[in-house]
Amino acid sequence: MPETTETPAPEADAKPEAPAPAAPVKEVKSIVLTGFGGVKMMKVQQKPEPTVGEGDVLIRVKACGMSFPDLMVRQGVIDHPPKTPIIMGFECAGVVEAVGANVTDLAVGDRVMAFSDYKAWSELVAVSSNYVYKIGDNLSFHDAAALLMNYVVAYIILFDLAGVRDGQSILAHSLGGGVGHAIVQLANTIPNVTIFGTASSHKHEAIKSKGSVAHLFDHSMDYTQAIRKESSDGVDVVLDCLCGDDTNKGIALLKPMGKYILFGSSNIVTGETKSFFSFAKSWWQVDKVNPLKLFDDNKVIGGFQLRRLLFRQGHYDYVRKVVSRVLDLYNQGKIKLTIDSVWAFEDVGEAMQKLCDRKNIGKIILDPTAEPTPKSPEKKAAEAAVNSDGASGGDEKKEAVANGE
Ligand SMILES: NC(=O)c1ccc[n+]([C@@H]2O[C@H](COP(=O)([O-])OP(=O)(O)OC[C@H]3O[C@@H](n4cnc5c(N)ncnc54)[C@H](OP(=O)(O)O)[C@@H]3O)[C@@H](O)[C@H]2O)c1
Repeated sequence: MPETTETPAPEADAKPEAPAPAAPVKEVKSIVLTGFGGVKMMKVQQKPEPTVGEGDVLIRVKACGMSFPDLMVRQGVIDHPPKTPIIMGFECAGVVEAVGANVTDLAVGDRVMAFSDYKAWSELVAVSSNYVYKIGDNLSFHDAAALLMNYVVAYIILFDLAGVRDGQSILAHSLGGGVGHAIVQLANTIPNVTIFGTASSHKHEAIKSKGSVAHLFDHSMDYTQAIRKESSDGVDVVLDCLCGDDTNKGIALLKPMGKYILFGSSNIVTGETKSFFSFAKSWWQVDKVNPLKLFDDNKVIGGFQLRRLLFRQGHYDYVRKVVSRVLDLYNQGKIKLTIDSVWAFEDVGEAMQKLCDRKNIGKIILDPTAEPTPKSPEKKAAEAAVNSDGASGGDEKKEAVANGE
């Protein structure tokens, strides 16, 4: 007879075993957009550490790039605005901390730069390996964050869309900014290219010291007339990041066989928060263009939006090839990065205010490891006054004082 073992009957008053305590959720410091509006809508918050899924790479972030589109996101003046709250940021550089299943070309410890569909302004970022690029020891993390978006955009619009050639002329705006510097340097790699540009006057000397620009104008002057004085038949290429009335001016300035590329709409931003008037004006000012007129005039019109190309239209293999050409140019010494300033996450409000106030020359970088700038007693008092005053989202002056804490 087989031996039987009897399970002792549970005691009537035995308590069910308590579940093991859950491991505490690890958190990381991130810059969160809590709603659309002024600088105060950006807050530094602790968020759960991101997890790596299949095909993803987890990056310990050392530097993040800030660009004009981040300002537009904050104000909610972009197409398909995201749902808030959301971690901001489209680009970063750092070190790979973990890789998900099926990631074969990247390993823990690799130095990388990456695009991210939001969420880049955080101590840790999980992003598909489709948007991650290895970098060498000769490129610092700050420089990598200054290079990625600006030079990829400038490369594509100049070479792949406008096809700039030896001896041609270009008009481009906002030459003192991140993309502007990239346009100048990349255009300077083509022989005999004449650059006409606009930028705030206080930046002209700095721009000329970084590259060869034939004619610089303050945007507030009648730059079309000034260009016609130098070149009566206009220019071969217009790279327009402003839109609105500048679109009409740009198309009118094109020579026969000329190409106009729209890659931004900075004119939509007119203050600290979204202005419906500027938003609408920027579109209604643009003349409707009839293809038959382009046919008669021998002109080409195009547009470019990197984030859409990458994250909605899936052309990340093409962008990877562009990144590798840009890195080749960097390794050949043809790209010299210009960083305007480096800021701690806690100072994101001041950093973005600088961009909005047209004061930056080159790229603005956020560094999650940087110490926040100590505030003067006057500044602290001003902020306290603003806060005790019950600053509202629409009060431009008050919001300009806040620094996003
Ligand atoms: N298509 C894409 O994929 C893509 C990607 C990145 C950037 N972009 C576009 O490229 C342009 C430049 O971007 P960026 O990141 O290099 O920025 P940025 O040029 O550094 O942006 C700041 C500068 O823009 C100029 N600006 C023009 N209109 C302005 C306004 N309404 N308010 C404040 N500043 C204004 C100012 O310079 P001045 O006063 O000297 O003119 C300001 O210093 C932007 O239009 C941006 O949207 C497009």
